[in-house]
Amino acid sequence: MADLEGNLDAKDFGIGKVQENHGFPVKGASQLDFGMRHRLARIFGADGRTAMLAFDHGYFQGPTSGLERIDLNIVPLAEHVDALMATRGILRSVVPASSDNALVLRASGGPSILKELSNERIAMDMEDAVRIDAAGVAVQVFIGGEYETQSIQNLTTLVDAGLKAGIPVLGVTAVGKDMVRDSRYFGLATRIIAELGAQMVKTYYVEEGFADVTAGCPVPIIMAGGKKLPALDALTMAYKAIQSGAAGVDMGRNIFQRKDPLAMVQAVGSVVHAGLTPDQALQQYKDLSGGADD
Ligand code: R5P
Repeated sequence: MADLEGNLDAKDFGIGKVQENHGFPVKGASQLDFGMRHRLARIFGADGRTAMLAFDHGYFQGPTSGLERIDLNIVPLAEHVDALMATRGILRSVVPASSDNALVLRASGGPSILKELSNERIAMDMEDAVRIDAAGVAVQVFIGGEYETQSIQNLTTLVDAGLKAGIPVLGVTAVGKDMVRDSRYFGLATRIIAELGAQMVKTYYVEEGFADVTAGCPVPIIMAGGKKLPALDALTMAYKAIQSGAAGVDMGRNIFQRKDPLAMVQAVGSVVHAGLTPDQALQQYKDLSGGADD
């Protein structure tokens, strides 16, 4: 193993030089099998970007604000996003099977908010992901967390199963309470997840050095939303993440906890796919919502 004492800080990320995609719009995916590329092409548009709606929070939080009734609050938003990220329980019981969306299935779980969250295990069989027609499966990875190695093993086990089935894996950086959220941490976590085989990585935006995080990751980075912010801040974060090389967003609370989630989901989609600036997207949110001010 490389000697940590002689380890030099990474500094040359070749910012501005885009990784060659060899004709397939998803970063790092041109050499994957047909089925996997076909699924990735459902998650990502022809522009290589995705607007994904996350509403899997119930797998450890129960019915959080905005997700009390997924049939009423979330299903009407689905037509405005490329992909839905949810548990199999919600997909089977609530999401219409006639939905056109790519489905990214929550594949890990175990502890609730009452316990140590990093103690997750794989919570489904890849065969069931095939039955559901999932376009991808998602697993938390707790780099630096108490159960780091176990969560890495969850990832690598799913990657092996996904390669057999042709289903890509989304590795999600899960940040523990005491960890510093900076580009050095996210650069470490996202690169480990990609090196160990995930075809997509979801991580949080940071103001300083996010372009280094995306450039240092050989597969697409999808920005996680986080807690609810004022609409302009959330749209700015999405915009800056994409400008810094993210391939899209996977947002939850910043959409479904809004006064008008249907308006917000469209504004977020416009930032991702139509290149609207934060101010333009905020205007779209206000226009569509009849002047919502949150
Ligand atoms: C996190 O544990 C889950 O993957 C959530 O789906 C996601 O990260 C939360 O979305 P948001 O932070 O945008 O509400």
